[in-house]
Amino acid sequence: MYNYDFSKVKLVIGKFCAIAAETRFIMTGDHKLDAISTYPFPIFGCGWESAFNVSDLPVKGDIIVGHDVWFGYDSLIMNGVTIGNGSIIATRSVVTKDVPAYSIVAGNPAKVVKMRFDDKTIDRLQKIAWWNWPIDMINQNLKLICNLDVDLLETVANNDHI
Ligand SMILES: CC(C)(COP(=O)(O)OP(=O)(O)OC[C@H]1O[C@@H](n2cnc3c(N)ncnc32)[C@H](O)[C@@H]1OP(=O)(O)O)[C@@H](O)C(=O)NCCC(=O)NCCS
Repeated sequence: MYNYDFSKVKLVIGKFCAIAAETRFIMTGDHKLDAISTYPFPIFGCGWESAFNVSDLPVKGDIIVGHDVWFGYDSLIMNGVTIGNGSIIATRSVVTKDVPAYSIVAGNPAKVVKMRFDDKTIDRLQKIAWWNWPIDMINQNLKLICNLDVDLLETVANNDHI
C-alpha cells in the first residue's frame, strides 16, 4: 500500500512464504514530520506542488522478507523492516522493527514472544537453507522439511553438496 512513484521502495519476498488474508505492507505514506503542518499539499497539485519536494517525504526503506515466513491474518508491515527466515508474524501484528529469524512476533508494536528453536538449531537451519534446494530435492524431502529432525535434514543437505 502507498507505494508512490517518487518513493522507489521495494518489497522483496523470499520463497515459501505463506501470507494470510488482509496482510498489508505499508511501503511509504509518511507525511512530513519536520514541519508545522503534516498536510501533504504537493500531492494534490493545484499550485500546491511548490510547498515542498515530494521526494523529501520520509521513507524508512525497503521491506525485505526472508524465506519460509508465515504472516498471520491481518498483519501490517511497515517500510524499512527486514523479516528473518522461518519467522511467524502473529495475527494482527504491526511490524515496525526487524524480526529475527525463527522468532514469533506478536502485538502492536510487534515484539518477540518466543523463539521457535534454540540459537544453535537456528544457525543450522539457516545453513541448511532448504528453500534454496532444487525443487526436485524439496519434493523428495517434503516429509523431512515438515518434521523436526534437524540432524536428518542436515545429512540430506550435506550429502547433496558432496
Ligand atoms: C502466533 C501463533 C501461531 C501462536 O503461536 P504459539 O507458539 O502457539 O504461541 P502462544 O499461543 O503460546 O502465544 C505466545 C504468546 O503470544 C501471545 N500471542 C499469540 N498470538 C498473538 C497475537 N496475534 N497478538 C498478540 N499476542 C499474541 C499469546 O497471548 C502468548 O502471550 P503470553 O506469553 O503472554 O501468554 C498464533 O497466535 C497466530 O497468530 N496464528 C496465526 C493464525 C492465522 O492468522 N491464520 C490465518 C490463516 S494462515
